[in-house]
Amino acid sequence: MAYEPKNFDNLLGTKGLSDQLLKNHFTLYQGYVTNTNKVSDALNSMLKEGKTTTPEYAELRRRFGWEWNGMRLHELYFGNMVKGGTPIDKSTNLYKKIVADFGSYENWEKDFKATGAMRGIGWVILYYDGWGDRLFNTWINEHDVGHLCAATPLIVMDVFEHAYMLDYGLKKADYIEAFFKAIDWTIDPHHDSMFE
Ligand SMILES: [Fe+2]
Repeated sequence: MAYEPKNFDNLLGTKGLSDQLLKNHFTLYQGYVTNTNKVSDALNSMLKEGKTTTPEYAELRRRFGWEWNGMRLHELYFGNMVKGGTPIDKSTNLYKKIVADFGSYENWEKDFKATGAMRGIGWVILYYDGWGDRLFNTWINEHDVGHLCAATPLIVMDVFEHAYMLDYGLKKADYIEAFFKAIDWTIDPHHDSMFE
């Protein structure tokens, strides 16, 4: 079953992110959806045709996580923003967990922003490890390197240059501020029970 690109036009008009930048970014995301389907189809065809020992099969197999994560990370990134932003509710279990693990919400934010400000392209993810009951701010190099297995992504920030350069040039920190103002901290009570 092929993946269909999701529509994030509701984000157009978000303060700090121009429509042109967002539209370019949506197009780029749609490319990941297309290529995820293409790579998946090609691998299935090769299996049927008995070509699983070929270098082409091996390279496409290696590539799949890059395309698939490129698709899903963009869905999480656009999905965790809303025009105008929604601040975190201090009565939620997640807020209390952030304070417990980082000392304060402000410390968490400082650490997340510092991770985003690092030199390089990639992603910053606030991950929750349910097995160890711990939160981590995580640097993802490219789309496929650095993920924490079986942990749940809670906040995802794109820090590839295409996410900000059109509006901010080299001022990545200003983009990160704009992203923070657009974060949608709305937490489903069902999901919030994860942090009890
Ligand atoms: Fe991106």
